[in-house]
Amino acid sequence: MPKLNNKTLVFSREDIHEIVKHVGLNQIMDELIHRLEIAIKSFDPSTIHIPIRSGFNYTKPDSGLVEWMPLYNELKGDVVIKLVGYHPNNPDKHQIPSVISTISSYDTTTGQLKGIMDGVLLTAFRTGAASAVCSKYLAKPESKVLGLIGCGAQAVTQLHALSRIFNIEKVLIRDVDTEAMISFGSRCEVLNLDLEIETTSLEELVGESDIICTATSIEPGAGPLFSHLKTKASVHINAVGADFPNKVELPLDLLRNSFVCPDFLEQAKIEGECQKLEDHEIDTDLAHLIQNEMNYADLQNQMSVFDSTGWVVEDNVVMDLFMEYGKKLNLGQYIEIESLTGDAKSPYDFINESVVACESNEKQIR
Ligand SMILES: NC(=O)c1ccc[n+]([C@@H]2O[C@H](COP(=O)([O-])OP(=O)(O)OC[C@H]3O[C@@H](n4cnc5c(N)ncnc54)[C@H](O)[C@@H]3O)[C@@H](O)[C@H]2O)c1
Repeated sequence: MPKLNNKTLVFSREDIHEIVKHVGLNQIMDELIHRLEIAIKSFDPSTIHIPIRSGFNYTKPDSGLVEWMPLYNELKGDVVIKLVGYHPNNPDKHQIPSVISTISSYDTTTGQLKGIMDGVLLTAFRTGAASAVCSKYLAKPESKVLGLIGCGAQAVTQLHALSRIFNIEKVLIRDVDTEAMISFGSRCEVLNLDLEIETTSLEELVGESDIICTATSIEPGAGPLFSHLKTKASVHINAVGADFPNKVELPLDLLRNSFVCPDFLEQAKIEGECQKLEDHEIDTDLAHLIQNEMNYADLQNQMSVFDSTGWVVEDNVVMDLFMEYGKKLNLGQYIEIESLTGDAKSPYDFINESVVACESNEKQIR
């Protein structure tokens, strides 16, 4: 019988940063968008099993949540679990991101942890990529003006991803935090984009944008972000921030007048913009849209909303991509995390092993 590999491949923050420096932001985003589109096109729920995510939310010591998002790929024989915490006060109180995450994968032959990596940067990458994929199908190809409501971490990768698909010339931004608006331009400098970033009113942003991304930390119950504002007749909106019961960003009448496409229907009905809609008011999910592209050819000329709550398929794709990069670049560390050696039925076996090892060391010293 072949010997099992007892080691877990661990990619730390440094490894992920090294990958990004070697491969480059744009190449990573392009490959990710491409692979995500392929993964969604071939998504088959009879072999890829995804239960709705679960977790804990709390208000003490601060408001936040920790959730787990599992995926079982029957054909590949692995399970991927994204662990994510959302603590909107993190940036102000602790100077760390609101969204903190790790992504791990498990071997379904034995249950061993095969790999684990930072998911903070990867979540930002994949959330941007998901909006780009959906916008490719639902936004007008000649879209030039991008509106960003919420100028936090996700807004940077929304702009990055959309700029790889559309020729964005102007970005209109709005945030309740003036500092976030002021620093947005400098946080995006690394992207080397030749475009204008303008702080504006919500009214102008909503009225003039071809594509809008909402990625705010608005409190549950406090939405929507705006109401009774006129949009372009063919605006496409990537609603990224609504991912919790009672947390919504868009007004109900806008949703009712739009083609609404959730990433993961059952989850979006609990946590996304879809929680406000009746079933018959929700049009189709992203996989169905992409797999039946011909039936939805005219949608770019009408208002549409991508209800992005975060789908673990996206995390699976980004993890696989970074695993490949990391292995090619010889990065990461193989660590024996799990106690798997010795007698399988003797959990304390290692104590005898270490006593024997100590005694033999002592003999050698004498
Ligand atoms: N759909 C997904 O897959 C996905 C992935 C990651 C994060 N998210 C969600 O996206 C949201 C943003 O995440 P982030 O990492 O950018 O957070 P962040 O804390 O970095 O930024 C959020 C920004 O929203 C602003 N904001 C809050 N209320 C606002 C309002 N009423 N109007 C305008 N701006 C407002 C804040 O001032 C802040 O600058 C969060 O709610 C998070 O849960 C969704």
